[in-house]
Amino acid sequence: MAMLEIKDLEVYYGMIHALKGLSFEVNEGEIIALIGANGAGKTTILHTVTGLLSPRSGSVMFEGKDVTKVPAHQIVSMGMAHVPEGRRVFASLSVLDNLKMGAYTRTDKAEIEESLQRVYKRFPRLEERSNQAAGTLSGGEQQMLAMGRALMSKPKIILMDEPSMGLSPIYVNEIFDIIREVSASGTTVLLVEQNAKKALSIADRAYVLETGNIVLSGDAKELINDDSVKKAYLGE
Ligand SMILES: Nc1ncnc2c1ncn2[C@@H]1O[C@H](COP(=O)(O)OP(=O)(O)OP(=O)(O)O)[C@@H](O)[C@H]1O
Ligand SMILES: [Mg+2]
Repeated sequence: MAMLEIKDLEVYYGMIHALKGLSFEVNEGEIIALIGANGAGKTTILHTVTGLLSPRSGSVMFEGKDVTKVPAHQIVSMGMAHVPEGRRVFASLSVLDNLKMGAYTRTDKAEIEESLQRVYKRFPRLEERSNQAAGTLSGGEQQMLAMGRALMSKPKIILMDEPSMGLSPIYVNEIFDIIREVSASGTTVLLVEQNAKKALSIADRAYVLETGNIVLSGDAKELINDDSVKKAYLGE
């Protein structure tokens, strides 16, 4: 059984048919990359999976349970965390308070503290800046905070929406190293990226999305050498 199973998903925004019956799955322990051009429907997929959007039809199964109609906060407590596009940190709150917000579904104080220390170890810069207002962090630091906040819910799977967007090459490398570490520590990863090259280089498998449909899927190492992928997404 796949950890996450998306089946025949149809999503509309009014008259706009954003997802056209697409299906895919994520197995426990995998890094799955979802690549596609602007407007292909990547964010719509993540919003539907995390309960922020309701599909017209189709289903989302998480660990064998139908979560298609489960509200977002409940999905978080089931073990799914979302790092949204454009980071969306709480600008006026401190770094520490943002991180604590990530643990809102948990109650054990000692365990939350343990997670906080783990996040600080992974992102030393967040510890240095724990009292700074999140809105004054640099773009890369805000991305780290958004990831740290998601990890504070102790997720089984983390869904990331374009974590490398707008970052300098050094930060991009750092973020991808961290995604690899998060994966190695046992969290399953569903990664949406415009940076197809980077995403395919760390993913196990990938799905290519075009205007609401999956047009190609397979082993990431094979897709990186696929001529149509090279031409359309790798700029080669
Ligand atoms: N709230 C909305 N109302 C109407 N149309 C929307 C809305 N959100 C998204 N869309 C449309 O749905 C389609 C898919 O959008 P989506 O944001 O999922 O794309 P994306 O693949 O994440 O793109 P990007 O790479 O630019 O983030 C687009 O055509 C977009 O214009
Ligand atoms: Mg998007």
